Amino acid sequence: MAQQQVNNSPFLKPFFLKLPMCSPSHIRQRRHTLPASELRNLTPQDAISVFEIEREAFVSVSGECPLTLEEVLHFLGQCPELSLGWFEEGQLVAFIIGSGWDKERLSQDAMTAHVPETPTVHMHVLSVHRHCRQQGKGSVLLWRYLQYLRCLPGLRRALLICEEFLVPFYLKAGFKEKGPSAITVGQMSFTEMEYLLGGNSLCT
Ligand SMILES: CC(C)(COP(=O)(O)OP(=O)(O)OC[C@H]1O[C@@H](n2cnc3c(N)ncnc32)[C@H](O)[C@@H]1OP(=O)(O)O)[C@@H](O)C(=O)NCCC(=O)NCCS
Repeated sequence: MAQQQVNNSPFLKPFFLKLPMCSPSHIRQRRHTLPASELRNLTPQDAISVFEIEREAFVSVSGECPLTLEEVLHFLGQCPELSLGWFEEGQLVAFIIGSGWDKERLSQDAMTAHVPETPTVHMHVLSVHRHCRQQGKGSVLLWRYLQYLRCLPGLRRALLICEEFLVPFYLKAGFKEKGPSAITVGQMSFTEMEYLLGGNSLCT
């Protein structure tokens, strides 16, 4: 369904999912005036919602967010077409933010840079609202994002770094391990993962 609606435009046309909703009480109480489930590119107007989910997910765990609010605003301004948000009744419940990168491996510079018109996407962050985890949403959003990237002209691969405990999650999604990353954040070290986008005949 969604695949047919992804056209050659660099931006994703919003599309709707028929999937069970996670239902934190604040979402359940809303009237059904907004699409139950929608996937779309993010905009700078979504930055606060993005940052709230990110902060809850990372600050309590590691004390550091992958992206500061300024960086979220920067990437959503520079390359919104490399982001994807999952909204339920208008509320952001999960998102991915990416940017362009021009080297074989990710280096510290990649954390803050967007290099336009390159074949590589650096996925900075995938995060699911805490009320909605362990329901398959992270996996579904990741799969949709990779399918969408396949349809963007010129893209060949996606790279990310993750902590060791999430390597199995990304392997299950089709990523391959590239080895230890050169990037460190404080005491934290990471594994670099790569996903080859290949061609997709459904996009032509
Ligand atoms: C990681 C994350 C995106 C997964 O999304 P999700 O919707 O909960 O994941 P799904 O329901 O699709 O899949 C669940 C799988 O995720 C993996 N996973 C999620 N959290 C995990 C954790 N803390 N430790 C180990 N594996 C974990 C497991 O493989 C799990 O499979 P299992 O239930 O069979 O063990 C989500 O837990 C999250 O937002 N976490 C906080 C932010 C984060 O760490 N993001 C990734 C780095 S940028």
